[in-house]
Parts: sequence; C-alpha cells; structure tokens
Amino acid sequence: MKRKAPLINDFPHMIYGGDYNPDQWQDYPDILAEDKRLMMLAGINSASVGIFAWMALEPQEDVYTFDWLDETMDRIASFGGKVILATPSGARPAWMDKRYPEVLRVNRDRTKNLHGERHNHCYTSPYYRKKVYEMNTMLAKRYKDHPALGMWHISNEYGGECHCELCQQAFRDWLREKYHNDIHELNRQWWTGFWSRTFNDFDEIESPSPIGETAIHGLNIDWMRFVTHQTTNFMENEIAAVKAITPDVPVTTNLMGLYPGFNPWYLSKKIDVVSWDNYPEWHKVDDKDGKLASDIAFVHDMNRCLKQQPFLLMESTPSLVNWRRINKLKRPGMNITASLQAVAHGSDSVQYFQWRKGRGAFEKFHGAVVDHEGTENTRVFKECAQLGNILKNMDSVPGTMVPVEAAVICDWDNRWAINDMQGLTDKKNYDLTCKDHYYALWKQNIAVDVIDSEQDFTPYKLLIAPMLYMIKPGVAERLKKFVADGGTLVTTYVTGYVNENDRCFLGGFPGDGLKELVGIWAEEIDGLWEGESNTMKTVVGEFYEKEIEYKVFDLCELVHPQGDCQVLATYGEDFYAGMPVLTKNNYGAGASYHMAARTDADMLGDFYKKLAVELQLVTPQNMISIKDEDGKDVCGVSIRERACDEITILFLLNFTGKNVTVEHGVLGKIALEPFGSAVFEMKNNI
Ligand code: GLA
Ligand code: ZN
Repeated sequence: MKRKAPLINDFPHMIYGGDYNPDQWQDYPDILAEDKRLMMLAGINSASVGIFAWMALEPQEDVYTFDWLDETMDRIASFGGKVILATPSGARPAWMDKRYPEVLRVNRDRTKNLHGERHNHCYTSPYYRKKVYEMNTMLAKRYKDHPALGMWHISNEYGGECHCELCQQAFRDWLREKYHNDIHELNRQWWTGFWSRTFNDFDEIESPSPIGETAIHGLNIDWMRFVTHQTTNFMENEIAAVKAITPDVPVTTNLMGLYPGFNPWYLSKKIDVVSWDNYPEWHKVDDKDGKLASDIAFVHDMNRCLKQQPFLLMESTPSLVNWRRINKLKRPGMNITASLQAVAHGSDSVQYFQWRKGRGAFEKFHGAVVDHEGTENTRVFKECAQLGNILKNMDSVPGTMVPVEAAVICDWDNRWAINDMQGLTDKKNYDLTCKDHYYALWKQNIAVDVIDSEQDFTPYKLLIAPMLYMIKPGVAERLKKFVADGGTLVTTYVTGYVNENDRCFLGGFPGDGLKELVGIWAEEIDGLWEGESNTMKTVVGEFYEKEIEYKVFDLCELVHPQGDCQVLATYGEDFYAGMPVLTKNNYGAGASYHMAARTDADMLGDFYKKLAVELQLVTPQNMISIKDEDGKDVCGVSIRERACDEITILFLLNFTGKNVTVEHGVLGKIALEPFGSAVFEMKNNI
C-alpha cells in the first residue's frame, strides 16, 4: 500500500486541535494571549476557526470586521500551527434574518422558523447563496497567502431540510429532470394509482408533510435524495467561492456519523477531505464486551471508505458533552484511547469541540481542553497534553491506510426505504443490524470496510449485505460477478424486495435476478413480539460439525431453497419448523450465504469465525492473546493496524475497565491499564 499525501498540503503531521472561538473573546486580550501559551503546552498544532462567526465578521450589512481573525491567523501561525478556516454559513446574524426572511427555513408542517438556532437556513434561497458566496470570497481573498491557512471547513454539520416555496419549485425541477419531464413515468414508479394519487402535472407535487402526503414511498425517498442534492448543491456554491481563489487548499465539511438526513456518499464526492464529529456515550452501564467501541469503529470505517483515504476526526469532547440526559465524564485514559481509536481506523487528526469553555449560553458546560478555571492544572488539560505528546511522535501515521479484505454494506437509500416501509415490525433496526454483523468481525480484530451498494466490490473476499431490501440498478449484476469470481456474500431476511424507487419486484424475492445467486425464494416473513423467539437448529455436515441451537427473533422469513442450495440450519418451532434459516449456495467460484431470520451475537460470532478461518481473513500479525488479571480471555480490547509499504503501526486499545495483558509474538507482553492504549511502529519486511 502506497502512503497517501498528507491531508493538509506540506503538513505531514498528525493534526491536533479543535474548535477555537476567539470571536467570542474579543474583550479578553489576556485570555487570547494565554490561549497561545496553553495551545503550545498541549501540543496543539491546529484550530478550526470562525465556524459560527458571521456576526463577528459582518456586524451590520456590508460592514466588515476581520481584525480579530487576522490576529487569530497570525497567532496560530506564530507557533507553526494550521487553521482549518470555516465559512460562517452555519449561523446567521439577526439583521440578515430580519431584512431577508427568505433565508429562514420552513418545516415539514409548513411553519416558518424565526431567527435563532443554527443551521436554520433555506438551501435554495438565492439571496443566501449569493451572500455566502460573497463572504467566502472575501475570506479566501484575505487569507489566500496566509501561512496558517491549511484547509477550508465549509459551514458546519449540514443537516435538516426546508419546505418553502423556493424549495418546492427546486424539488419539482429535480423531479422533472429525474423523470425526463414525463409525469406518467413518475406515476408508474411511485405507484400513484393507490388512493387516487395520480398526478397530472409536476406542479401538483408537494414535499412530504404531516399535514399532507406521507404515504407515497417513492415520493418520500425522492425527497430525501433531493434534500441530499440541494444540500450538496448549496455546499458546492460555497466551495466554488473558495476554490476560485485558493484552488490548492483542500475543503472539508464535518459530517455527523450515521445522521440519516442526507446521503454522505453523494455529498462526499464534492469535498477533498472527509471529516466527522464523534460523541460516543462511553461508560454506559449496559455496554459490555466492547460493543459501543465496535459501533464507533463502524462509523470511523465508513468515513475512511467515503473517499478511501484517511479522514479527520473533526470534533470530539475531551471530557463530557452537555446535551445528554446524563453527561458522564470520560474516565482517565479514555480520551486518549478513544482518540487513538479514530486514528487506528484512518483518522489523520484528533480535534476537539471545544478549545475553551465559553462564559455563557448553551455550551458553557460542554467539555473543553481549557476550563473556566483557565489554566493547565486540570485533569482534562493534562490528559490532552499527554495525547499531544503521543501525536507529536506519530508523524509516520498520516497517509497510511488500513489493510482490509471484508466489507459490510450499509446503504443510505436502502436505509431510508426500510425505515419508511409500512409493516413487518417496528424493530427494523437496519443500521443496528449492519453494526451487529460488523461486531462479529470486530471481536476477531478483523478490519472491515463499511461501504454503500454503489462501491467497488472487487477488493474484498467477504461481502456482508444485511437487509439489502433495495436493489439499485446494476447492483444485482455486480453481486453476481463478485461471487462468480470467487467472493463470499452474506445476505439476510428482507433482501431484494424493491427497486431504487421503492417499487416491489415481481416474480418472488429476492428480485432482480438474485434468486439464482442467493439460492432461495423468500415467500413470507413473520414478525415476532418482544420477548418472543424461535430457534435455529444447525444441520450437521460440512459447515457445522455438531448440532447447535441458537435463538432467532424479530423477523423470520419463510424461504425455499432452489436448485443445489444447501440448508445449514432450520427453524426449530412453529408451523415453519424444519424450513431453512441458514443456507449456502455455491455460485461460480464463490458462495452466497443467506440468513432468513434475525440472529443473536452468539450465532453471528460463531458464523463469522468459521468464515474468517475458511477465507483466511487478515488479522493483526503476531497476536497471541489478550488476558485479564485472572488469565481469562477478554473481549473489548481492539487491536488494529495501519500500514503503508514500509511500515505497520499497531494500535492496542483497551475499552474495558480492567487491567489487561496483550501478548505479541515480537513485542512480548504489553500491559494496558483500564481504558488504556499503546501504539507501536514496525518496519515491514520488504
Ligand atoms: C456539534 C457542533 C458543535 C458543538 C458540538 C457539541 O458537533 O458541530 O458546534 O455544538 O456539537 O457537542
Ligand atoms: Zn427553502
């Protein structure tokens, strides 16, 4: 694997810093001077500046005040740091909302927002687009040659939607283009004969609303695609302004993990660098065996895969957040371990929200590197400084990648369609199911890509496609080719029911020609009550050497094997006792497994262990064991590798509250404290 270029040009270091709000501290010159001293002490080399600073930049219409930002850029440059400079579109001044009310959002229920909140703007408003373009142009012109300018932070956490008349028109135009101006084709795809919903004209169409239409699934999913398009298009206008002046300065926007409101796979095509904001609920009483760490690893992996390159951890809290019901402190060690987890999965940065706690308003008690107390004498500051030291010695990490042979598909259109699906159960849990399959590999320390159904499948030996309800054009053919060429595919209940417009396939599920690949016909699906379950009994043979019984629950599909499809396990109870739950169908040089029911962690753990052995999936080299103080095997310690041709970096991350010992064939025994971590660099034999 070739090392990739650093994400900030000519800055081949781990990026360490966070959201910095000098705009809020203009009356406190001493504190601003102290910031520099403390940043240097903490080993910080970057700051995201100006994120919600429109009012500080343009306090009155056409009156501009950039002095504070000039000073900030100089301050960060004075110690060799980089600024990730934000465009301020995430929040607007009151003067603007009052004078140009078209910028304010209209909600689904058609109420119009007042001034306030943030991210509360219409994505279509020509005024706002023009104004943002002008502001971004000014920023780019002013700082284009400034040595601190490292990257553009476009807006902040794009999200939400607007249903104003301007957006309705834009939506109709988007539909006209998608359906080639043919309203009959739209009616056919949306199945509008239902409840007399047929449209005569695109002008009759309104976005989904609780006081209007919510029952046409084709409309709902097209609306989400439009929101994705319009959000991206708004962002592209922002990017065009800065790229016209600073074509070589990379752009990012901070994404929000698995936020469902737009499709990150579409949007991230238009940015140079992916970044995301990570706020896990660490130390929950019911979290065990590293499950939460695995769920977070899943999101890191998705962010790496969005562009198949290192990403940035753009926000995280050094201690606690202020917006949960219970806001728990990160235990000693956890900030370092959670930050290194991001790095282990492909982040070339650790960034915090926020550098310093503000004195007032909503986020004054949100965790920060510097507390109201104002010095380096806090537990949190010290741990941040300790991490600063660790990252300083990790210049060899940026640009390395993660060696991977398996992928889980978690597809956004599919997710929208499943969540909108009427029926089955209210526990559809699509993304949870994707994470449950992923967890079975995480526990084995097998690196995984998290991709959508439109990505290239050829790099993988194993492809896991839980609940792939929607089969978009070309996907069935690519899945078939993947397996025919020797790949192993895993599918589950609810596979291949609808096309890209949420219209059912005829002729039996899985549709679109997938029956011959998966080797089953899914005739019916049963929903089970909470607490109700069925069993899955293994069939002794090539796959299972002995009879095992697992629990199945929530959803049980009634499937018929086709042709030579082998039955590996059957239902134990109810009128479908004896019907297949797990099947294997050889296809070309590969094989396709189908799980007809929702299974628990034991079943998935055992199943993926077998596949990992059979496919010889790559795991970190030379690992021998992970034991607790009593010498028992521990689950919840993550061992990860990043690599390039020359070196491999090994990360040991203890997400348990116990002392553990990792035994490694080359490094020997390594003790990890509760929530502790260690990083090692090794030369590859090349
Ligand atoms: C988000 C925002 C930040 C801040 C944090 C608080 O990620 O982008 O501005 O509000 O949440 O956790
Ligand atoms: Zn609008």
